[in-house]
Amino acid sequence: TADLFPNRALDGIKLRITAGPTREAIDPVRYISNHSSGKMGFALAAAAADAGAQVTLISGPVNLATPERVSRIDVSSAQDMYDASLADLQDCDIFIACAAVADYRPSEAVTQKIKKSADTLTLTLVRNPDIVSSVANSPQRPFTVGFAAETQDVLHYARDKLQRKKLDMIIANDVANTDIGFNSDDNRVVALWNGGEHAFDTMSKAQLSRRLIALIAEHFRTERD
Ligand code: CTP
Ligand code: CA
Repeated sequence: TADLFPNRALDGIKLRITAGPTREAIDPVRYISNHSSGKMGFALAAAAADAGAQVTLISGPVNLATPERVSRIDVSSAQDMYDASLADLQDCDIFIACAAVADYRPSEAVTQKIKKSADTLTLTLVRNPDIVSSVANSPQRPFTVGFAAETQDVLHYARDKLQRKKLDMIIANDVANTDIGFNSDDNRVVALWNGGEHAFDTMSKAQLSRRLIALIAEHFRTERD
């Protein structure tokens, strides 16, 4: 990585990354979640630490080792991830939302295990807070980067999220009919910002992360200076 970060592009910069899925409790033994592996977020955390950043990785339940020189906060629900993400935002220069946050949670997490009875069971779900949008709209607003996993009209929906959530950059990911994405070691993305975009070829999440961190560092500096 020495060639990619000749002058340690993020030396001393405080960077926060969310990664992995969240779990939304139905009862004490059951939850709603998704297939996010956390690999992309963890690879980004490793690349950012290599670039000299002080990295805090806010992770949902995943099966991955913490990268070297990264401090990790484990969370479970979207609400927990929200609380950890929004805490002490004045100590955050760059925020990268890589987590696959559950959009909804059961309206009530009952305290006893639900017993089987009728032939159908209806769960009522309520919307979770939008973490990256809350960060981007906070008074201390760090440089904020989101991800968008889409199955159709990828660039259109990604640009819409960039504007709507007031992000500085969004990384769009086509997850339709493909073996890359969620649990893969490879990924193919397009980075979008106001007034530009960059399409990356398919490459390993490790390699892609170094390229993304270099791009984020460049835009962060332009915006700050
Ligand atoms: N995100 C978040 N908090 C949420 C939901 C999403 O921080 N409650 C972040 C994700 O980490 C990602 C970005 O928002 O960086 C886009 O997530 P995505 O699921 O693609 O967008 P949504 O706004 O949830 O819209 P939809 O799922 O309907 O496409
Ligand atoms: Ca979503």
